[in-house]
Amino acid sequence: MKREKIAEVLKNGQVGNDVLVKGWVRAFRSNRFISINDGSTINNIQAVVDFENLDEALLKKITTAASVAVSGKLVASQGAGQAIEIEVKNVEVIGEANPEEVQKTVMQPKKHSLEFLREQAHLRFRTNTFGAVFRIRHAVAYAIHKFFNDEGFFYLHTPIVTASDAEGAGETFKVTNFDPLDPPLDEEGNIDYSKDFFGKAVNLTVSGQLEAELGALALGQVYTFGPTFRAENSNTSRHLAEFWMIEPEVAFNDLNDNMDLTEEFLKYIAKYVLDNCLDDLQFLNDREAKEDSQKPTAERNEMSLKDRLNFVVENDFKRLTYTEAIEVLQRSKPYKKGKFKYDVKWGVDLSSEHERYLVEKEFKCPVILSDYPSEIKAFYMRQNDDDKTVAAMDVLFPGIGEIVGGSQREERLDVLKSKCADFNIPEEDLWWYLDTRKFGTVPHAGFGLGFERMVMFVTGMTNIRDVIPFPRTPQNAEF
Ligand code: 4AD
Ligand code: MG
Repeated sequence: MKREKIAEVLKNGQVGNDVLVKGWVRAFRSNRFISINDGSTINNIQAVVDFENLDEALLKKITTAASVAVSGKLVASQGAGQAIEIEVKNVEVIGEANPEEVQKTVMQPKKHSLEFLREQAHLRFRTNTFGAVFRIRHAVAYAIHKFFNDEGFFYLHTPIVTASDAEGAGETFKVTNFDPLDPPLDEEGNIDYSKDFFGKAVNLTVSGQLEAELGALALGQVYTFGPTFRAENSNTSRHLAEFWMIEPEVAFNDLNDNMDLTEEFLKYIAKYVLDNCLDDLQFLNDREAKEDSQKPTAERNEMSLKDRLNFVVENDFKRLTYTEAIEVLQRSKPYKKGKFKYDVKWGVDLSSEHERYLVEKEFKCPVILSDYPSEIKAFYMRQNDDDKTVAAMDVLFPGIGEIVGGSQREERLDVLKSKCADFNIPEEDLWWYLDTRKFGTVPHAGFGLGFERMVMFVTGMTNIRDVIPFPRTPQNAEF
């Protein structure tokens, strides 16, 4: 008999059919009811065994976490909680699980802290919470490819090893083949990277944008979706050293088109999850509600997870300039009462307390901030006519803060060259990027969505380490 996925059996199984399922035992009650999960859905199938027909030795091996193959007839369930169950004809234990050892793991069916689950990232997939998170993570990735494909974008694979630091933040991880204790030196005593594997100093990419621009200026509209690496030493609940980023880039788009595309894109993802991840989303929704009910009112979510997703789908994002945002912040209560930790004045980068105030207190909806001071943004952003600001935009989400960063790009060769000078970027390092501005340059724009931050938003998870299978953070590269 061919194995069927539990998701399929629960959805389409007919009473009277014979089925074979394989999975892991979640619970075995009263020597009679086996709950089996195979990862295809959050829901378990119940298999009912007739004790008389099973030998004692086999029975002992059916324990939580063991893997089993179960075949039998689908019958209408007597118990609550499921419509159908399997009347077992045959059980085979594929892999045993020592119950004493299972006790020490996250597979022990009881409530575990997310911290404890993180320590067992290799096993946490076996829990309902992480099963739900990673099925949704997959759905979000699929939705992203579908969105862009349907809109006529081309998926462009940009390099992971590169010599450039697109964001100019100097937070790159170096890549070298040299023996760290004995690298070749040049005459001045500096490491001689011309002798290294690539003949120059290279690093892991912080962004695929510069290369995506090259693609967009011929293919029209492209997007990247790949891993990016940042050696920023920020141990926060929103930063990873290795994260995934989606970067669309569109020829002939200006900043406004860019905002429209971002908003449409984020809404599409939220809607896709609402429409296609019902069971997992409901589980995470209820899980959050349960957690919230144990918190003081002030710390609870004002809306449920599903309501928050619906809210994003149904409401326009608030758009305002950085300059207007500074004014709003300076009029705010926390500012007047000296409650903000960091200063609010024109020219400073907004910190997350300011961003969260705007999104969660002032506007109570996603916000797109635009036209930031040139000094606090990257060299490639288009200079505005005021000569003080650039055509940049950040999208801020409730509970997350910055989820998207983007801009219209500087397409004018002379302005771009002077920007390179301002930012101390040698033109010869970026000759290939500058070249595109020589041959039929056009206005163009794009943005970067932090994939994990979006997955945080749609799952309601509050720590970014809990939405990526194996988080890479300072002092942590286990698994
Ligand atoms: O704002 P960022 O640095 O923008 C860029 O890299 C541009 N090249 C994008 C573009 O215009 N094509 O990063 C984009 C997004 C952020 O808004 C955030 O969501 C996410 O990437 N991000 C991180 N996510 C997790 N951990 C980190 N350390 C992150 N740094 C940025
Ligand atoms: Mg940014």
